[in-house]
Amino acid sequence: MIISSIKLINFRNYINEEISLLPGINYIYGENGQGKSNLLEGINYLSCLHSFRIRDDDKLIRDGEDNFLIDCQIQNSIKNNLRVEYNENKKRFYLNNKILYQNILHKNPFKTMIFYPNQVTLWSGIASERRGFFDEEISKISPMYSYHLKTYNNLLKQRNNILKDNFNENLFEVLSYQMGLSSDYLIKKRIEYLKKINFYLPTIFQSLLDKNKTIKIEYNSFLSKDKSEEHFLINKEKEIILKHTYEGPHNDDFICLYQNKNIKEYGSQGENRLAVIALKLTAIKVLKEETNEEPVILLDDVLSELDVDKKDKLIDYLKKENQIIITSTNKPENENGIQIKKGKVI
Ligand SMILES: Nc1ncnc2c1ncn2[C@@H]1O[C@H](COP(=O)(O)OP(=O)(O)O)[C@@H](O)[C@H]1O
Ligand SMILES: [Mg+2]
Repeated sequence: MIISSIKLINFRNYINEEISLLPGINYIYGENGQGKSNLLEGINYLSCLHSFRIRDDDKLIRDGEDNFLIDCQIQNSIKNNLRVEYNENKKRFYLNNKILYQNILHKNPFKTMIFYPNQVTLWSGIASERRGFFDEEISKISPMYSYHLKTYNNLLKQRNNILKDNFNENLFEVLSYQMGLSSDYLIKKRIEYLKKINFYLPTIFQSLLDKNKTIKIEYNSFLSKDKSEEHFLINKEKEIILKHTYEGPHNDDFICLYQNKNIKEYGSQGENRLAVIALKLTAIKVLKEETNEEPVILLDDVLSELDVDKKDKLIDYLKKENQIIITSTNKPENENGIQIKKGKVI
């Protein structure tokens, strides 16, 4: 799968611009603040329908306008058109002019993996960021996972509401039982997914850093010992006092062990960064293996943070991939480059 062109209308600092892209490595270059990251943000948005930088979609609309539109052509053996229109807090997503509704991630044929500087906090930052990453990656592979995740989150909201006020014993039992079923599914899939990740991760990490270092990701679940179904009934008294659901997959965590120690406390910033890059490269490998789909790889200002040796190793690794779009402030030598200035290709 590659993206052959993208059109951005009233998106960030773009007024109406169409940009053509090629297979292999594409360099997007230009000075600071010209719209390089905005372009990657637009491409990434079409694959997951949210920004990798902000939560509030309104901020993506060009100042002074009230809607944005992103349109792109993607192709593997066949060509597809994807379009997203956003206005008045609503986004509409179209695949070949037909609207796509729920469970978007697995129905969307366009997959991307984005690398960006702030991602260094994936291991050291808050757990919800890590859960978000794994939930999104597993959803790309498994429609059922995406279904259970939505179901679980809906049930959790309802269960928290009745714990907060108007406690109802029967409803509590029904919600707890249903939550248990989805919870079991989510945990099982997360464990399965990590098995696959842990199979490839060390080799990929070592190829970027040092072949003697060990790395592994562990799933830290409150429920690993209990069956979820019972778990959601056992804590009733405590939860009535707390007024919310005590524990579950919604507050489980993932830990990266580097040299058998938590990388968050033990690793340098550079090692944390490489561990995130290696995790993402591994997730690409697993995605390809499970779905036969090739994600488009987006690198936003990532190379400038790496020393020359690591940069070369990463580029070498990526050269095998279908399509890579890299932003940089330097004009590339002998490579396909697209210069962006004030939201326009020049
Ligand atoms: N909603 C918006 N409307 C208009 N301009 C925007 C909007 N959001 C961001 N910008 C502008 O986009 C520019 C930053 O673009 P960005 O892609 O992050 O730069 P870079 O080329 O350094 O990656 C800034 O000049 C900012 O003012
Ligand atoms: Mg940028």
